[in-house]
Amino acid sequence: MSEVVLRPVTAADRDWVRALMREHWGDEIVVVNGHVHRPHELPGFIAEDGDEKVGLITYNIDGDACEVVSLNALRSGMGIGTMLIDAVREAAIAAGCRRLWLITTNDNVDALRFYQRRGFVLAALRPGEIARSRLLKPKLPEIGLYGIPIRDELELEQILTDA
Ligand SMILES: CC(C)(COP(=O)(O)OP(=O)(O)OC[C@H]1O[C@@H](n2cnc3c(N)ncnc32)[C@H](O)[C@@H]1OP(=O)(O)O)[C@@H](O)C(=O)NCCC(=O)NCCS
Repeated sequence: MSEVVLRPVTAADRDWVRALMREHWGDEIVVVNGHVHRPHELPGFIAEDGDEKVGLITYNIDGDACEVVSLNALRSGMGIGTMLIDAVREAAIAAGCRRLWLITTNDNVDALRFYQRRGFVLAALRPGEIARSRLLKPKLPEIGLYGIPIRDELELEQILTDA
């Protein structure tokens, strides 16, 4: 029986990370609250089932905060997203971070459920922020999941403890 395992992203994965971001998020950059991230230049973890890559998470540590910049489980409902978040939480704690945070958009109600079920709480709402993101990332679509217009950033966080 196959088993999904995680490993850190390496320089050899950069082209694959770029391609995944373009395919799933429309561009290889991610814009968060006016900041541009390049996931292919960030640390992260890849989930693999044998030779097949089945998930990716990238993150950015700044001071004592760790931001999840991208998360994709390429097979859903099998625990891959949970494994990837857990791996970043551990990396953040090992790096001495006090806060793990991320943003999602108002259309992504599945992600909102996923993160809240994993201990994240809402920390901020930036209404209309995506119009500003579109200036930096013009390929960002107008319409998102479930036909919902993509408008707002929702920031979620969890405070990290060793326990
Ligand atoms: C949101 C996303 C990352 C979740 O990843 P996932 O791998 O489907 O999530 P998991 O499988 O770990 O958990 C989802 C559900 O499946 C259940 N599950 C976990 N392990 C499971 C398993 N082995 N078998 C069946 N179900 C399982 C979990 O209980 C969970 O349900 P819950 O939320 O009620 O607890 C994924 O759907 C995704 O990539 N979405 C598109 C990109 C995206 O929106 N990313 C987030 C951007 S902010």
